Parts: sequence; C-alpha cells; structure tokens
Amino acid sequence: MILKLNSIYTMDCIDFLNKIDDGFADLAVLDPPYNMRKSDWDTFKSDKDFFDWTFSWIDVLLPKLKDTGSLYIFNTPYNCAFILQYLVSKKMKFQNWITWDKRDGLGASKRKYSNGQEAILFFTKSNRYTFNYEEIRVPYESVERMQAAEKTGILKNGKRWYPNPNGRFCGEVWHFTSERHKTKVNGKVQKLDHITPKPLDLVERIIKASSNEKDIVLDCFVGGGTTAVSAKKLLRNFICSDSKAEFVEAAKRKVKAL
Ligand SMILES: C[S@@+](CC[C@H](N)C(=O)[O-])C[C@H]1O[C@@H](n2cnc3c(N)ncnc32)[C@H](O)[C@@H]1O
Repeated sequence: MILKLNSIYTMDCIDFLNKIDDGFADLAVLDPPYNMRKSDWDTFKSDKDFFDWTFSWIDVLLPKLKDTGSLYIFNTPYNCAFILQYLVSKKMKFQNWITWDKRDGLGASKRKYSNGQEAILFFTKSNRYTFNYEEIRVPYESVERMQAAEKTGILKNGKRWYPNPNGRFCGEVWHFTSERHKTKVNGKVQKLDHITPKPLDLVERIIKASSNEKDIVLDCFVGGGTTAVSAKKLLRNFICSDSKAEFVEAAKRKVKAL
C-alpha cells in the first residue's frame, strides 16, 4: 500500500479508500456530510444524490475493514434510518443506534420539537469484534443510592451487589456538549477551525470501546482532525483524509502538537 500509517491526506474519500488495502482497518469512525447545506461540502442537489453518494463510499469502505472490524457513522437521525437499512442489506451486523444529546440546539421550532440530537450508527463486520466495556463505564446517576450501596450493598436475587467504583455500563444515549456550544463566549458562537467538529471526549469513547492499542483507526472525513488526535492520544494508529486542504493542515498541526 502506498499510503502511510499515522498520516492525514488531502483526498476525495473514494480515491483515498481505493488506495487502502482490503482488510486493513480495525475501526472506521466516519463523520460525513449530513446534506444540511452548512457548507459547499455539505450541499447536494437532492436527497437522492446525497444517498447515492453516501452508499457509493460505503461500498468502497466496507472491504477495507478487517473481519473483526467495527464501523461508526454519524448523521442526522433521518439520514441514519436509510444508512442503517443499507448497511443491513450489505450484511453488516447492527449493534447500536447511539443518540448523541448535543446539549445545544440545532434550531428551535414552533411547528415541531426542536432538534438537539444526532445519531451514531455502530455496526460490526462479524460477531467477533472488540468491545472494551470496562474502559467506557460512566458515573451512576443515583449518586446517593450508590453511596449507600458502597457500604451495605444492594440485595439482588438473594445476593449482595456492590456498585463498580468506575461506574455503570455505558448506555446508548450519550450526553456530550457540542464544541460549538462549549466554546461560546457570552453566549456567542465563535469561529472554530472547522464548522462541525465532534467533541474529542465523544470520539475517544468510540476509540476506547472499539479498538485496542496499536490497532488501526480509519477516517476519510477527518475535518479538523478529531479522530486522528483521539487515536494518537490513545496509542492507536490512524489513517485519515479529508477533501479540504485547509482542514487537513489544521488537523496535522493538532496531531503534531500532541
Ligand atoms: C462533518 S465534517 C467532519 C468533522 C470532523 N469529524 C471533526 O471532528 O472535525 C465532514 C467532512 O467531510 C469532508 N468531505 C466532504 N466531502 C468529502 C469527500 N467527497 N471526500 C472527502 N472528504 C469530504 C468535509 O471537508 C468535512 O471536513
């Protein structure tokens, strides 16, 4: 393969994926356009054009995953409903529909409920896949009850159960404040080096759960570099690309600064 590990390329996703060997990646984290007209790269003539293009890069991507590999795709819940069907038709194994509660509005509405979530599809190529559930435990919600249970335990089916000091198993609804909201100053949105960056802690959860150290993480829509930065921090290898040179330069700077 002519591409190098731990590099970020300026390339169209399909050209990039065509240069990757089959069965190469342990994990693909993909945050593609959503067809929400947020930028030129997010604008398609029609839903049909958007889904034709989405399914075309998925077709090229799937062989690049190892048989033990995992795949995460971000999108709107509406688009994910179609992408899910497509992945099922390609014999991928559905694991979770993760709801990301962004703690930030995508837009208030008087005619329907305001949007505040994105969806993340978690699929695997087979039933043999990495899932490090111990690495991604989250705090218990009922703090007082758990504090009491640490001392005396809770009686369950005749046995005493004690809470895990690292928290409970991670569920399918994730609460991470969006970067846009996190970086507001006096309530005003600031200009970031990418318009739709994903929170680093959210991507870190995916990488911790679905890969091990030295595994290969692939992202062909790396934008401001969140996947590459998370992978490097967590001692994974990465191979990434984006079609926009200015995003790739920003991503490379962030990776180098680690
Ligand atoms: C939603 S953003 C990804 C943001 C990224 N996850 C982050 O945290 O910064 C989608 C990215 O896809 C890129 N993109 C759009 N069309 C592309 C294509 N045909 N090939 C490769 N990248 C493309 C855009 O330049 C944009 O950076």
